[in-house]
Amino acid sequence: MPQRGPGPAPAPAPADAERAASVRAITEQLAGVRGPLLPVLHEVVATHGYVHDDDVPVVADVLNLSRADVLGVLSFYHDFRRTPPAAHRVSLCRAEACQARGAEATVAAASDRFGGSTAVEVGEVFCLGNCALGPSGTLDGALHGRLTPERLDALTEGWEA
Ligand code: FES
Repeated sequence: MPQRGPGPAPAPAPADAERAASVRAITEQLAGVRGPLLPVLHEVVATHGYVHDDDVPVVADVLNLSRADVLGVLSFYHDFRRTPPAAHRVSLCRAEACQARGAEATVAAASDRFGGSTAVEVGEVFCLGNCALGPSGTLDGALHGRLTPERLDALTEGWEA
């Protein structure tokens, strides 16, 4: 399922010199590991939340790769965000056990409430190991069970829709 919520991503702000220096330091620190590109990109996302277009030439330069090499990896793996993350994230389980416990109603409620929001991203996951307490999901990374539409509303009260 494509991510719901933010709609078309806004263009990221240009990277600044401080960010470029940070990305360069991250890349230089990991340049010696085997297959450094993936670890570098993971660390850039962990540190800055996403990989900015302006990070690409910095990483390519340090690793002696072409920009196309870096962009190819970035576009292949969806876990490498290319835009700033939303303030909040809802991930709802859509695997069988949660579906049997009414997950689709929660998915529909989340889509209705946060569809078009730039502040809340809604995505799907497939089993969080919390099947007995389904429907399950995570809110900003915290696991929740019995996530009915009403409970979702209560737990996300105040989140900008
Ligand atoms: S099926 Fe949803 S947590 Fe396992």
